[in-house]
Amino acid sequence: MEGWILPPPKAASKSREELKREREEKVRWLLAQGFLRSERIRQALMKVPREDFIPSLYRDYAYMEVPLPLPGERATVSCPHSYPLFYEPLGLDEGHRFLEVGLGSGYGAALASEIVGPAGLVVSIEIDPVTYEYAKTNLHRAGYRNIILVLGDGGLGYAPQAPYDRICVTAACRAVPPPLVEQLAEGGRLIAPIAERDVQQLVLHHKRAGALTREIICEVLYVPLRGRYGAKA
Ligand SMILES: C[S@@+](CC[C@H](N)C(=O)[O-])C[C@H]1O[C@@H](n2cnc3c(N)ncnc32)[C@H](O)[C@@H]1O
Repeated sequence: MEGWILPPPKAASKSREELKREREEKVRWLLAQGFLRSERIRQALMKVPREDFIPSLYRDYAYMEVPLPLPGERATVSCPHSYPLFYEPLGLDEGHRFLEVGLGSGYGAALASEIVGPAGLVVSIEIDPVTYEYAKTNLHRAGYRNIILVLGDGGLGYAPQAPYDRICVTAACRAVPPPLVEQLAEGGRLIAPIAERDVQQLVLHHKRAGALTREIICEVLYVPLRGRYGAKA
């Protein structure tokens, strides 16, 4: 996790109440900073206890603005503001068919499931088997049984449930993997950190007439995409 200063691991000591207060405070901060605007995303952030998706030695840091390590190779749960940072420009909303590449802790998938609701669909792909099992346990314990979890290379997408209205890639790639462009619905949106030389830009894409338009949102710092379309070092 180059580029971030990780807090030291320690036994979890905060109560549920304390963490709930931190969650409420975080949501107020996200609104005040302009990261969060949509009411549905706000409700999801209030509802899902982020601490339940974080290894116990880092649980007390659940609402700190730092990515925290997960079981598996180079896997992290992204910092709290990353979720509205990705989901707001995507315009993620009720009824959407949503694909996430990079399941990580399962937290982003749980939020997405709350946002799209029972009329929508969430599919999430993780390449690391250890991280995948960790997320699956978290999601099942939290009661999310209708998210389609896939162990595999997310660069290839997941054709059986395509097309998707919205796609979110949570690891940095050199370019959008072509299978994801194919599996994105016409008029759909895809967001991804794109590595260009030494910098990563968060880029929002719209699919129009079969091709992607590009809009740079801001600079970000994500773990590299692995697999067939992985970012070369
Ligand atoms: C920043 S983390 C994702 C955070 C996650 N969305 C969450 O809420 O915890 C990026 C994840 O992408 C995974 N990853 C990297 N390359 C991948 C690929 N080709 N297919 C699927 N997952 C991949 C990593 O193993 C890691 O778990």
